[in-house]
Amino acid sequence: GRTTAPRLTVIGTGYLGATHAICMAVLGFEVLGVDVDRTKVERLAAGEVPFFEPGLPELLRKALDSGRLRFGTDFAEAAAFGDVHFVCVGTPQAPDSDAADLTYVRSAVRRLAENLDRKALVVGKSTVPVGTAAELTALVHEVAPAGEEVELAWNPEFLREGFAVQDTMNPDRLVFGVGSEWAEQQLRAAFAPVVEAHGTPVLVMDLPTAELVKVAANSFLATKISYINAMAEVCEATGADVTALAGALAHDARIGGRFLRPGLGFGGGCLPKDIRAFKHRAQELGVGQAVTFLGEVDAINKRRRARTVDLVRELAGGSLDGARIAAWGAAFKPDSDDIRDAPALDVAVLLQDAGAQVTVYDPEAMDNARRAYPQLSYADSAMDAARDADVVVLLTEWAQFREVDPEILAGVVAHRRVVDGRHALDRDLWSSAGWEYRALGRP
Ligand code: UGA
Repeated sequence: GRTTAPRLTVIGTGYLGATHAICMAVLGFEVLGVDVDRTKVERLAAGEVPFFEPGLPELLRKALDSGRLRFGTDFAEAAAFGDVHFVCVGTPQAPDSDAADLTYVRSAVRRLAENLDRKALVVGKSTVPVGTAAELTALVHEVAPAGEEVELAWNPEFLREGFAVQDTMNPDRLVFGVGSEWAEQQLRAAFAPVVEAHGTPVLVMDLPTAELVKVAANSFLATKISYINAMAEVCEATGADVTALAGALAHDARIGGRFLRPGLGFGGGCLPKDIRAFKHRAQELGVGQAVTFLGEVDAINKRRRARTVDLVRELAGGSLDGARIAAWGAAFKPDSDDIRDAPALDVAVLLQDAGAQVTVYDPEAMDNARRAYPQLSYADSAMDAARDADVVVLLTEWAQFREVDPEILAGVVAHRRVVDGRHALDRDLWSSAGWEYRALGRP
């Protein structure tokens, strides 16, 4: 017969946890979301998603209305309530090294486990260095009143910001890192609605492999982006065009066009810190040489930011001193208000440090940007940012920037000069409107 649906808790209601909790409740599970941040919990309980994610606010209200989703701050309540506990807390880069900071994961697992007095499954979803699950298993067995009855599993998450709902409801694959058949069954029960709806492939493996799948995937994606950006550097030295090059490579099905978009490169809370943490962990394990290339991937990525500043300087006539620059974009990518390691803001600060007067506009990330970078100037619209600008530089490829009419924009700027940091604008259209157009890796 079919096992009854497990009751779920989600520990950590940030980006990943909030999305997971909301989607699981919509799929029919009883869910309790737990966070140490009381304000966050109160906002979620009141139906407010504390970050920008298309489609999620509607689903939150639906889940709350169903009565199946609650939020709280009490770990004892979580332990009493749940059969399967998903740990979704952050693993940021450590302040003083490339390593991942595991403080939040360790403390969340400890506080939960201290209250677990019956058989339960603790499922790690956070991105962690390989070997963390083994360490946490030992911790759980040591501190849980139910001892070895509590099992640990790893279920890495591959959702993209901006597509979080779609990626959670209909993922490309599910990875279950488990140590027993019981753990596998619990996870199968927790994901039954997803698998039944979409026939999602389920890949069952040991815990260290499951931990590695995540970092290997993000490292591959980062490498693909830096690969095409390295080709952009070669293009710049030869007069070749990286957009035509990428388009031709993409037709080879073995290569594929996704994550082959050249430009300013990758940022965000995941790819940059994940490749650094992976390199760090590999060194600890004595296999640093296996992933030294990730250092190159990081270096290529950072050079794109510096090169964008150079393009703006060239276009401004050789000096940035006193130049008025409109910076379009602050978020690390469109359809997100996330500014963690955002290439856009890095470039804005570099331009300002070089003496330019920079005015930033972003459709969703203004509050976050203002808080983190009070030294920059901000405008209320793309047009306002561009008023009297010597150079307009597109740093995040929001649809509203792509749709700007260059004829109209020409009426507000001081000079028709644009640097397209994301290959998002139609060069022919802008050139025929009288703009000097520059882009990374294009003649
Ligand atoms: C990334 C992965 O894509 C997810 O699968 C993963 O779950 C997530 O990290 C995570 O570890 O949590 P995300 O950080 O939301 O997702 O953003 P991406 O869509 O991967 O974009 C990352 C960066 O790469 C952005 O700055 C984007 O502008 C840049 N990018 C992406 C390029 O420069 N070129 C491309 O072709 C694609």
